[in-house]
Amino acid sequence: MLSLKKEEQYSSVIMKLIILFCFIASSLADGDEEFANYSTTNRCFPADFHFGVSTSAYQIEGAWNLDGKGVQIYDTFTHEHPEKMDDRSNGDVACDSYHLYKEDVACMKEVGVDYYRFSISWSRILPNGTIDNINKAGIDYYLNVLKELKANGIASMVTLFHWDLPNDLQNRGGWLNPEIVGWFKDYARLCFAEFGKYVESWIIINEPKQICHYGYGNGQFAPGIVSPGILEYVCARHVLLAHAKAWRVFDEEFRATLKSRVSLAIDSEWYEPASSCKADVVAAETKLQFVFGMYANPVIKGNWPQVMIDNIARFSKAQGFNESRLPPFSDEEVALIKGTYDFIALNHYTSYMASAITDPNHVGEVSWEEDSGVNIYKKSTWPTAGYPHTSLPWGFGRILRWIKQTYGNTEIVITENGTPDTTGTLNDEDRIDFMRSYMSHMVDAIYDAGVNVTGYTVWSIIDNFEWTAGYTKKFGLYHVNMSDPSRPRTAKDSSKYYSRVIRTRCLLDFCESIRNGPDSTKNC
Ligand code: BGC
Repeated sequence: MLSLKKEEQYSSVIMKLIILFCFIASSLADGDEEFANYSTTNRCFPADFHFGVSTSAYQIEGAWNLDGKGVQIYDTFTHEHPEKMDDRSNGDVACDSYHLYKEDVACMKEVGVDYYRFSISWSRILPNGTIDNINKAGIDYYLNVLKELKANGIASMVTLFHWDLPNDLQNRGGWLNPEIVGWFKDYARLCFAEFGKYVESWIIINEPKQICHYGYGNGQFAPGIVSPGILEYVCARHVLLAHAKAWRVFDEEFRATLKSRVSLAIDSEWYEPASSCKADVVAAETKLQFVFGMYANPVIKGNWPQVMIDNIARFSKAQGFNESRLPPFSDEEVALIKGTYDFIALNHYTSYMASAITDPNHVGEVSWEEDSGVNIYKKSTWPTAGYPHTSLPWGFGRILRWIKQTYGNTEIVITENGTPDTTGTLNDEDRIDFMRSYMSHMVDAIYDAGVNVTGYTVWSIIDNFEWTAGYTKKFGLYHVNMSDPSRPRTAKDSSKYYSRVIRTRCLLDFCESIRNGPDSTKNC
C-alpha cells in the first residue's frame, strides 16, 4: 500500500517535471521564427484553380422586412439588444444588396472572379421557416441574383444557412428542437428545386461552431442562449443531422440532374504546439479535434472525435453528471452523417498557440473550452492586423497540411479568408500583405505537400455588417459608404491586387511584366 502511494508520488513528481520542462521549452520556442525569412512564393496557381469572393444574406441584403420576408433571429437580436453591437447598429439596410445586387456583381466582374459565394435568407423565402408558406418575392430575388451572375459569367456557390434562423423557428426551440432537422430538410429541398440549375456548389451550413458555441454556449451571438458545455452540444448534434439530411436529399433527389457539389463550411484556426514536448503536441492536436474535428469528423468518419467522446465523458463524471454532456449519435445517425461531403470547405483566418494544462488532474468548469483541457493563447509579439484576426499566414499552410494528414487527400476549397480594416481606407496595404502571404502559404502547401486545394474565396467583396462588431470592422475589397443612402461601392487597392492575381495566376508584383515581356512563356 505504502509503496503504491510512493509510486503515485513519484509519478506525480515526474509528471510535474515533464510539464515544467515543457513550460520552459515553450517559453523558449518561437512558433513563427521558422518563417521569419519566408518570402512570397514565385509559383503560379495550378491551371484549374478557382478564385471567388463571399458574403452572407444578413450582412449585406438589408430589406429586413420588405416584400414578405419573415423576421429572423438577427433582426430580433440587433433590435432588442443594440448594446451587443460595438456601434449599436443592425443589418436593417446594411449594403442594401437587396436592391443593389447588380452593383455587387459589377464589382465582382471588375475583379474578374470565377465565382461568388453568397447565402440565402431562410426567412426571405419561408417567412415562418416552414414549407407551408412560401414567399414568391423571396424566390424571385435570389433567382435574379443567380441570373445576373450567370449573365456575367460568374459561377454561384450558395450557402443555405449563414446563421439567420427564422424567428418563428427560434420560438419553437431553434437548433435545440429535434424537429429542426425536418424543417431544414424541407427548406433545403425547396432551394435545390428552385435554384439548383444555376448553382455550381452548395454550402449547406456555414460555420457550425459559430452557430452553436456563440449562439448556445457563451451566448455572444443570436439567439444569445448561455449554456456552455451543455446545450451547445445539443445544437451541434442537430446542426450535423440537419446538414446530413439536406445532403442526402440532394444526393438522392437532385444529383442525377444537377451537377453541383455539396458540403458544409467549417471554420478553424490553426493551433501551434507551444513546444515540441509531447504534452503540447497532443494538446494542439486535441484542440484541433475540438474545433475542426468536432464537425469534420462526423461528416468524414461518422462520429464525434474520440478525444471529445473521452474527455467529455470523463469531465462530466467528475462534475457529477449522470451521463456525458456530449449527446451520442446512434448507429443509424452515424450512417446517415458519414460521407455527407463532396469536398472539404474551410474558413480560416488566424492561429493560436496551444499548450497542455499543467495539472494532470485538472477538471475545469462546464464548457467546450475546458472540455478540451488545453490552454490557448496568442503571442504578444504577433502582428495584430485586426485582432482577433491576427495575421499568421504560416498557420494557413500548417492547417492545410494537417487536414491532409488527418483526413486524407480530399479536395479542399477555402470558402473564407480575409482581414478587416477599421478606417475604411482605400489604400489597404495591410489587406494586400495579408492576402499575398496567406495565399502564398496555400500555394506552397499545394506544391510542397500535395494538398488538394482547388479554390480560394476572399471574405468579402464589400464591407458589410460584421455581426457584433457592427460596421466597425470592414472586410471588403470594396468600401461601402454606410452613411450614404445609395451605399456607393468604391474599389480598394486590394481589389486591384486580387484582380491581378486572378489574371496572372501569380502573387508577385512583377509577374505581369514577366508574362507580357519577351519571355512570356516563363512561369512566375
Ligand atoms: C463568418 C462571416 C464573418 C467573417 C469575418 C466568418 O466567421 O462566416 O460571416 O463576417 O468570419 O469575421
